[in-house]
Amino acid sequence: MGESPGLQEGGQESDNTIPNVKLDLHYVDPRLVAMYEDANGRGPDTEFFLGLASQVEAETILDLGCGTGLLTRELASKHRRVVGVDPSAAMLDYGKRQPGAERVEWIHGDSRSLPSGADLALMTGNVAQVFLEDEEWNATLANIRAALRPGGHLAFETRNHAARAWEHWNRDATFGTSETPHGPLDEWMDVVSVGQGRVVFEGYNVFRATNETLVIRSELRFRTEAEVRSSLERCGFTVEQVFGDWNSGPVTSQSQVLVFVARR
Ligand SMILES: C[S@@+](CC[C@H](N)C(=O)[O-])C[C@H]1O[C@@H](n2cnc3c(N)ncnc32)[C@H](O)[C@@H]1O
Repeated sequence: MGESPGLQEGGQESDNTIPNVKLDLHYVDPRLVAMYEDANGRGPDTEFFLGLASQVEAETILDLGCGTGLLTRELASKHRRVVGVDPSAAMLDYGKRQPGAERVEWIHGDSRSLPSGADLALMTGNVAQVFLEDEEWNATLANIRAALRPGGHLAFETRNHAARAWEHWNRDATFGTSETPHGPLDEWMDVVSVGQGRVVFEGYNVFRATNETLVIRSELRFRTEAEVRSSLERCGFTVEQVFGDWNSGPVTSQSQVLVFVARR
C-alpha cells in the first residue's frame, strides 16, 4: 500500500525504565493496549492454566509477561498469592484498572524482578517467543528456576515451529475490521523475512477515522520442541509433559501450539 499522510512506522520501542528490554508498539500505544483483551480474550488456554494451578495446588503463582493480566486476575484469590510481572507500564496500567486487580501484586519488570519461593510460574500468550536470542531465553529460564521452590512447576506455550503459522500471516488471510473507541480499525499482517527460527513481520493498523496507519514491525522466535526441551533440561528443569493442544492432547505436526509443563 502507498504511504498515507498519517503513516507511522513503529518497531520495537524502549518503553520507559526496564534495562535491555525492547517492547513492540502493541504493548506501548495506549489505543492498542486498550484493545488487547478484545482480540485476546478468555479461551481454552485460560482454562488450561487455571486447571493446572488447581491440580498442582499452587498457593504462590508468578505470571511473567502478564500483560493486562486477564489470567493473572482470575488466578488471584483469597487463598493464593499471585504476582504479575511485565516490562510494559501501559499493559500493567490497563490491568490495574480492571476488576480483581486489587488481589494481584503487580511488578513493572522482567524475570530479573521475580520474587522467590513460588509454587508455579507461568508465561502465557506466547511470551516465550519474545526471547529472540538463546542467551536471553536461557537467562530467563534460569531466573524463573531461581524463583521457584524445589519441586515447583513452570508452564508456558509457544507456537509450534512445525505448523509454520507464519505461512498464513499475509493480508488475504489476516485482514479484519473492528469497531473501536477510535472508530473502525483495519488490521492485517505481512511477513517480512523468515530464517534461523526467527520470523519478522509487520502488523498494519489503519484507523479509518483519522487515516492514520501504524505499521508495527515485530520479531518472534520459533523454537522446535527439541530445542525447548533441551533448553529446559540444561537449565535444570525436568520436562513433565508437552501437549499439542489445550485439551492435553499429544503433539502432532498439525498442532498449532506446544504446551510445556516442567518441574524444578
Ligand atoms: C502477547 S502478550 C501476553 C500477555 C499475557 N501473558 C496474556 O496471555 O494475555 C506478551 C507480553 O510479553 C511482555 N514482554 C515483552 N518482553 C518481555 C520480557 N523480556 N520479559 C517479560 N515479558 C515481556 C509484553 O510486555 C506483553 O505484555
